[in-house]
Amino acid sequence: MTRRQFLEGSLASALLPSPAGLLDPNRLSKFVDRLSIPPLAQRAGFQTNPHAPGRQTPVYRLRMRQIERKIHRDLPATRMWGFESASPGPTIEARRGEALLIEWANELPQRHFLPIDHSLHGAGTDVPEVRTIIHLHGGRVPPESDGYPENWVTPGKSVVSFYPNRQDATMLWYHDHAMGITRLNMFAGLFGLYLIRDEEEEALDLPKGSYEIPLVLYDRSIRSDGQLFYPVSGDPAKPWISEFFGEAILVNGTLFPFLEVEPRQYRFRLLNASNSRFYYLSLSNKQPFQQIGSDQGLLAARLAVERLTMAPGERADVVLDFKERRGERITLGSDRYTILEFRVSSGGAAESRPIPGRLRAIQRIDEQEAVKTRPLTLNGGDSDDPTLVMPMLLNGARWHDPVTENPTLDTVEIWSLINVTDDSHPIHLHLVRFQILDRRPFDVFTYLNDRELRYTAAAVPPEANEAGWKDVVRAEPRMVTRIIVRFEGFAGRYVWHCHVLEHEDFEMMRPYEVVRAR
Ligand code: C2O
Ligand code: CU
Repeated sequence: MTRRQFLEGSLASALLPSPAGLLDPNRLSKFVDRLSIPPLAQRAGFQTNPHAPGRQTPVYRLRMRQIERKIHRDLPATRMWGFESASPGPTIEARRGEALLIEWANELPQRHFLPIDHSLHGAGTDVPEVRTIIHLHGGRVPPESDGYPENWVTPGKSVVSFYPNRQDATMLWYHDHAMGITRLNMFAGLFGLYLIRDEEEEALDLPKGSYEIPLVLYDRSIRSDGQLFYPVSGDPAKPWISEFFGEAILVNGTLFPFLEVEPRQYRFRLLNASNSRFYYLSLSNKQPFQQIGSDQGLLAARLAVERLTMAPGERADVVLDFKERRGERITLGSDRYTILEFRVSSGGAAESRPIPGRLRAIQRIDEQEAVKTRPLTLNGGDSDDPTLVMPMLLNGARWHDPVTENPTLDTVEIWSLINVTDDSHPIHLHLVRFQILDRRPFDVFTYLNDRELRYTAAAVPPEANEAGWKDVVRAEPRMVTRIIVRFEGFAGRYVWHCHVLEHEDFEMMRPYEVVRAR
């Protein structure tokens, strides 16, 4: 058992002081609400834009607003922050090579409804409480449109971002990235999906339309009055908590939903949008998921996966075949949690084609191509006082320290993530996609004392469903995790960080800069 699993199992959040009683979700009736599907975003019009002069580019306008939504039949509506009237927000559908613009308008209230920690970087009392900036996770986007954490805007203001969509078909997602309060803004509901389609994927004739269904998973603590509860530390001056785990697991915003399916194949697009929780998904009938894609698009080959691990920020593209399951009820769960019920109808349905075994060619990046290897330590800050809550750091540096990672545009680097902590940290780099080379256990004590990497076992290759293109990698505890990255697309300032949002807000995020070759 890892430390994280222990924390998740011990109801860490419920043990912290809570002002109102927390709801035990297991007291609620299960599977009384239909799964809701986020609406599709509607284009607002066309506009010329500086990146593509002389061309008309579609524009979307998404307003961030305070909304109320029912998460369960027997609970009053829950206050959230969403886009237009939805959380998760409306889904954007884009085509490869066809650019679009989105105006992200902040129309939120002036005050936050979740506990801000003003001692965290960039979240001081000198800045407004409500600040947002939207980032397209996994997008190859120019730096000025990437949603740099310090480029936030306040209520009444908006930001227009340009998305070129020059990348392979996959499911990206958009979410808030504001300095020091990302965990709270995302907890409030500021995220949504962004699909990129292309011909390569369409040639596979995968289930589509009502047979392609997004499943966005996130955990929350709910008070007995139906409202969201985000716990605090007990130190009023520093309310930050190191990780958040809630007992209510929502799918697309609903608790314990059911989904009626026909006895045929479905394609599910999964996203872990949780602050800290990892999922270990499986089906009650032991049927494996047929995984066809990960963060950055299709895998090389279809893969049967019985237990699907998903860290915050990760996506999985899976196919489930209900053909032999007429009349059955199958539940999706994660360890001891029940998440969703599939109800297979008994009526016949037109069968879709079987999913091909081979999906696409994925060229491995040769290690020889790397012009640089960067050893990067993932660690806690140093202090002689054991009672002090210390930030998590990337290579011993804080957000405001000068840029140290400055790869050259169109070169390949290996980033060697040396995790000396007892936690798995899902590390995400903006702008790029990458491949996982391997993970290798090392002697943490020797490393901390002598800065010497002494390996204790052989390197293990990535799991089969991690062998495609990724943008999040689980840097496992007491392991060196190596990724290989081609820095392509744009030069400029981006960020890399841990996708455990509590870590990200407490210094486990660093700027990096792609520089042009001279
Ligand atoms: Cu999903 Cu920097 O974020
Ligand atoms: Cu972390």
